[in-house]
Amino acid sequence: MPSSSSSSSKLPLREIPGSYGSSFFGPIKDRYDYFYNQGKDEFFKTRIQKYNSTVFRTNMPPGPFISSDPRVVAVLDSKSFTILFDNSKVEKKDILDGTYMPSLSFFGGYRTCAFLDTEEPDHRALKSLFLSFLATSHKKFIPYLRTGLSELYDNLENEISDKKSADFNNNSDNMAFDFVFRLVTGVDPSETKIKSKGPGTVTTWLALQLAPLGTSGIKFIPNFIDDIIHTVRLPFFVIKSGYKKLYNAVYDSATTLLDEAEKSGIKRDEACHNLVFLAAFNAFGGMKVLFPSLIKWIGSGGESLHRRLAEEIRSVVKEEGDVTFSALEKMPLTKSAVYEALRIDPPVPFQYATAREDIIVESHDAAFQIKKGETIFGYQPFATKDPKVFQNPEEFVADRFVGDGEKLLKYVYWSNARETESPSADNKQCPAKDLVVLCCRLMLVELFLRYDTFTAKTGQVALGASVTITSFTKAA
Ligand code: HEM
Repeated sequence: MPSSSSSSSKLPLREIPGSYGSSFFGPIKDRYDYFYNQGKDEFFKTRIQKYNSTVFRTNMPPGPFISSDPRVVAVLDSKSFTILFDNSKVEKKDILDGTYMPSLSFFGGYRTCAFLDTEEPDHRALKSLFLSFLATSHKKFIPYLRTGLSELYDNLENEISDKKSADFNNNSDNMAFDFVFRLVTGVDPSETKIKSKGPGTVTTWLALQLAPLGTSGIKFIPNFIDDIIHTVRLPFFVIKSGYKKLYNAVYDSATTLLDEAEKSGIKRDEACHNLVFLAAFNAFGGMKVLFPSLIKWIGSGGESLHRRLAEEIRSVVKEEGDVTFSALEKMPLTKSAVYEALRIDPPVPFQYATAREDIIVESHDAAFQIKKGETIFGYQPFATKDPKVFQNPEEFVADRFVGDGEKLLKYVYWSNARETESPSADNKQCPAKDLVVLCCRLMLVELFLRYDTFTAKTGQVALGASVTITSFTKAA
């Protein structure tokens, strides 16, 4: 008997619609539709309409010649998507990037924590180490972040007075890297051999691994040339020396954490490659996408939203006397606005898993049987913008999660689980879930303690939004 993803009422069992086409041309056709002919959102939207189903079969990029099997069952609504979080029914081995695995040379020859399944003993050991490291670093979060954010806004202001506008992404990347490096190692990157090269090195390292999942974004390059990045893996040696510098800097300074790792039975070099991955991929990679997206959406709310946020933030900080964990809890609009940004634009939009057994998955309208070994794929923006759960799902509603709206938090999935759940050594939820939310809240608190309002121009870059700040109006 296959097990069910939900115990709710019996829905009609339906064969999963969709087809993969021929094993060579099918994936290439889907890849062209996905990247060039339709684009991501249209690709999924047209198939949902065609099959009249939010669960269907399709190929996902890259396909030939990088992934040996690009076939997936897509789950694109709020309900079926949650099968990806059920670690008793799905396996998460080597599936972080989808249907292909980058070369292990990028990670010192190790499969780092994010590539490990919950049933692998190393996952438990590493995740426990990270969770306890985050718990013991708790007191550093607010002071480190406030220092970083105050520098960030100073730099943006200086850039505006020099050049009339400021590149938010670039400045935010620098802040994110310094914060994460300092948190993990206890020292400033400028005190190590990395100096100010960290964000550049890590961005190249990320781009080389993730290239098969995107496009160059350069309009005058013909599609068939651009498509080459989906057919061959980009080599590690391009960034080998930069990676080594980063590794050595972490190895030399994160001694306390590495000692802890050794005590719990993890080899020192394996732990260190894991720390580099955690700092560079998980943390810096996530922040690189999330912070510009947050500012983009808050910017889109305009002066009236800014006034409401500034009023809330300033009055709570005045009452509490400082920016503290408890002060941040007393800001319902600020909290909601952050969750809304995470809902409308989940920073890690793709999740994959493999069925451990035959499973029944339910969408809102039907039940489907997924066979053991099949790959399940979720495009998260479709789950967190599901019109059956959220009203006006495409609209940024800053106070959506205020008051009674808090009930909707269980449908916010950015951390690879429901917002109402907690990361543990037995699941695959982001261990820094609370820290990430804290970073976003503090980014808004610092912003509206300093300024009444701001304006920004936004665009698109490979991994998300690009934001240029065009003005700040200082608080009177
Ligand atoms: C804006 C920042 C961040 C975002 C958006 C983010 C998001 C995520 C997501 C979606 C996953 C699940 C990936 C998957 O299996 O599909 C994840 C896993 C993970 N994240 Fe985060 N994360 C962020 C920051 C951080 C930070 C600051 C740390 C550590 C200090 C961290 C450490 C990890 C680790 C170790 C995993 C793997 C968990 C496991 O294998 O069980 N992340 N993160």
